[in-house]
Amino acid sequence: MDIYIREEQSEDYGAIHAVNEIAFGRENEAKLVDALRRNASAFVPQLSLVATLDNKIVGHILLTRVKIEFDHQLVYDSLALAPMGVIPAAQGKGIGSQLVRAGLDKARELNFKSVIVLGHPGYYPRFGFIPTIRWNIKPPFDVPEEAFMGLELVVGGLERVQGTVRYPDEFDRV
Ligand SMILES: CC(C)(COP(=O)(O)OP(=O)(O)OC[C@H]1O[C@@H](n2cnc3c(N)ncnc32)[C@H](O)[C@@H]1OP(=O)(O)O)[C@@H](O)C(=O)NCCC(=O)NCCS
Repeated sequence: MDIYIREEQSEDYGAIHAVNEIAFGRENEAKLVDALRRNASAFVPQLSLVATLDNKIVGHILLTRVKIEFDHQLVYDSLALAPMGVIPAAQGKGIGSQLVRAGLDKARELNFKSVIVLGHPGYYPRFGFIPTIRWNIKPPFDVPEEAFMGLELVVGGLERVQGTVRYPDEFDRV
């Protein structure tokens, strides 16, 4: 079983759309990825990664730029991990975990300081994510506190950061 993680290429766009559609069982997340790719202020090409299994794309992860805004004055840069999908036939083999770890490593390499995720509280803590309430960082929508998580890519990456996470507008349409 040969699993590789690599940066997306333009010829992968169709396969990435299909992987997200199959993983989520709907087209919303696939369309979100397509839309974010057109948003130059949010999209970081090096943070759109694919997982290949025997040379076929079976998984994808995207991290995009977000802002954390406090009191309409202070604005901090961060990243949101979303979406991530692995096709059902390839799930449970650690591919999702490899995608997360590769995405976090690349983000750190690019000097980002933190990552935010809205996701399963049973999955993301294994990578070091903890609820953002720890830093007084809030989601812009109503979600269970334990599902909204953050991770410092460097020591103190979220120290003295607080406020509400502002996602790119493309997320409003999901
Ligand atoms: C979440 C997802 C990307 C994980 O991919 P994967 O390649 O199966 O991940 P891994 O093999 O590294 O890890 C599997 C673990 O994820 C856990 N997991 C998968 N879906 C989960 C869910 N909905 N809630 C909690 N844990 C979940 C499995 O229980 C398993 O846990 P274990 O290691 O303790 O047994 C994949 O299940 C998927 O595409 N799901 C549908 C889309 C989705 O929900 N994406 C996440 C959005 S936050």
